[in-house]
Amino acid sequence: MALEERDPVTGRLTTGHQWNGIKELNTPVPRVVYVFLILTITFGLVYALCMPAIPLGRTYTKGILGYDERTAVQRDLEGAAAAKAPWHDALDRLDYRELAADPVVMQEIRETGRFLFGQNCAACHGINASGNRGFPNLAGGALNWGDTPEAIEQTIRVGVNSSHPESRIAQMPAFGQDGILQRPEVDAVVAYVHDLSREGIDASRQRHPAGQEIFKAQCAACHGAEARGNSDLGAPNLTDRTWLYGGDIQTILDTVWQGRQGQMPSWESRLGARNIKLLSAYVSSLRKE
Ligand code: HEC
Ligand code: HEC
Repeated sequence: MALEERDPVTGRLTTGHQWNGIKELNTPVPRVVYVFLILTITFGLVYALCMPAIPLGRTYTKGILGYDERTAVQRDLEGAAAAKAPWHDALDRLDYRELAADPVVMQEIRETGRFLFGQNCAACHGINASGNRGFPNLAGGALNWGDTPEAIEQTIRVGVNSSHPESRIAQMPAFGQDGILQRPEVDAVVAYVHDLSREGIDASRQRHPAGQEIFKAQCAACHGAEARGNSDLGAPNLTDRTWLYGGDIQTILDTVWQGRQGQMPSWESRLGARNIKLLSAYVSSLRKE
């Protein structure tokens, strides 16, 4: 093993090491690697000097620039709050009619409302608020609890059959299951209700006199003598074409046989008064379109 051996092909010196006849060239580290090493080390030192960097038990080196993520986030939040302040103020101050008349505020309500609705309500009511079986269409059609913005606000605030102490209570009794009516009576009143929205109340009365009698005795207290519903009780209008559960014979039979107690969560503690007002104005604006 000779020192100072030169590789005949490349002309470089070898290190003198040899494995199974293969010799290692003594190639120097390229200069560019040193340059990058120096640059990165310098950057690291400068960064550690300027920015918060080295933990020291309960504290850390703060850096000479005094930068702090926490204050940066705080500043961003304050900036966002300041940007929203004028229309938040409008939201607190104005009533629903005044809000609807202010195009600038309504623009904000539509944008933020759509976002809030998507996050909190769309899972049940659909992204366009058009509802689903058992989940009311909020964007059109009759609402069981009233369609003024104030009524909508109340529903969102306390919910329906929710755990909120002031919750709205929707109790459609289980006439069949609980033995209030016998099967033929249920069938008769179901046929009567089925034809209310299709044929009109007069035609249905003529066609199903027995069903009408049962309706008067058992159902009118909540749904009204003319079956137009009662928004204080959340009892739907049965003469229109809006159905929460469905208007075919089988679904009406299921409803009357086993009852219905729809559940809408209360949002008071989760969203707060201002966001609930915003959502009520948003839902009302959908209904106007
Ligand atoms: C104690 C009040 C009450 C009485 C009595 C009552 N209902 Fe109801 N009914 C309701 C309520 C409240 C709802 C809405 C249930 C919900 O929101 O989940 C409802 C829902 C319905 C629906 C579903 C409508 C839809 O949109 O899908 C039908 C059909 C119906 N009732 C028919 C009847 C018939 C027929 C009778 C009499 C045999 C009757 N109800 C008696 C309170 C009542
Ligand atoms: C877990 C499902 C669910 C979620 C989430 C939900 N809802 Fe509901 N919502 C319901 C159901 C079910 C009803 C029907 C209650 C009944 O039977 O009367 C309802 C009813 C309503 C009503 C009354 C409709 C009427 O006919 O009078 C309004 C208004 C409403 N929801 C708005 C909202 C808003 C706004 C949100 C979001 C903050 C929301 N809901 C989130 C299930 C939900």
